[in-house]
Amino acid sequence: MQVRIYSTKQQVAEKFSAFFKDEAKKHDAFHVALSGGSTPKIVFDYLAAHFGTEIDWSKVFFYWGDERCVQPTDDESNYKMTVEHLLSKIEIPAGNIFRILGENDPKTEAIRYSDVLAKNLPNEGGVPKFDLVILGMGDDGHTASVFPHEITLWDAKENCVVAIHPESGQRRVSITGKIINNAETVAFLVTGASKADKVNEILRPKADTTVYPASLVKPSANKLIWFLDKDAAKGL
Ligand code: 6PG
Repeated sequence: MQVRIYSTKQQVAEKFSAFFKDEAKKHDAFHVALSGGSTPKIVFDYLAAHFGTEIDWSKVFFYWGDERCVQPTDDESNYKMTVEHLLSKIEIPAGNIFRILGENDPKTEAIRYSDVLAKNLPNEGGVPKFDLVILGMGDDGHTASVFPHEITLWDAKENCVVAIHPESGQRRVSITGKIINNAETVAFLVTGASKADKVNEILRPKADTTVYPASLVKPSANKLIWFLDKDAAKGL
């Protein structure tokens, strides 16, 4: 595991974007699971602005690690956020975008998306394999949409499950631990002081440390990189 700490969120965006560009160039087909929430916005803006013409997007295939069960036009939609901050600014074939259909019945969509991963991703050990999974982490230590109150979803046998946000009750479709830990590389993008406690607990676990979903990210390929700003890393 690598922990890369930068002064600001902007620098995390710059450094991760350069990392993404380098990784993309290594692949003829680069299969990536995107994270949602707000952190990716600054990253996607930078990636589009500075590497938008340098990356051959015809070789990049975008999926999502999780999606809120809302219309793709809803402000809560991770897809909508990604269109606004990245997809609307780059030349990527529509056929390279594998959206989780948030407007569908959640259970039906979790099954459908599990099949999408099985059909379109390379496979290792009988499990779909991403080249890169990008993750965020909530203040509560959740990642993708596996929340602490439903941490057993991490070990589901399915590729995707239906999760429920602990406060809002919002339903979400999320990839599971078997998919995340089968990825070639996993990159956490975590910024802001509100994440510092959990970052510290996860990266410097003590004997009685609580296990959070983000603690369970241990890719078998052992390529796990935390991109942190100083605020999120202040406890390290
Ligand atoms: C989502 C994300 C989720 C996110 C964390 C961190 O759908 O919300 O996939 O896992 O990465 O909640 O969110 P912020 O980046 O907004 O802090």
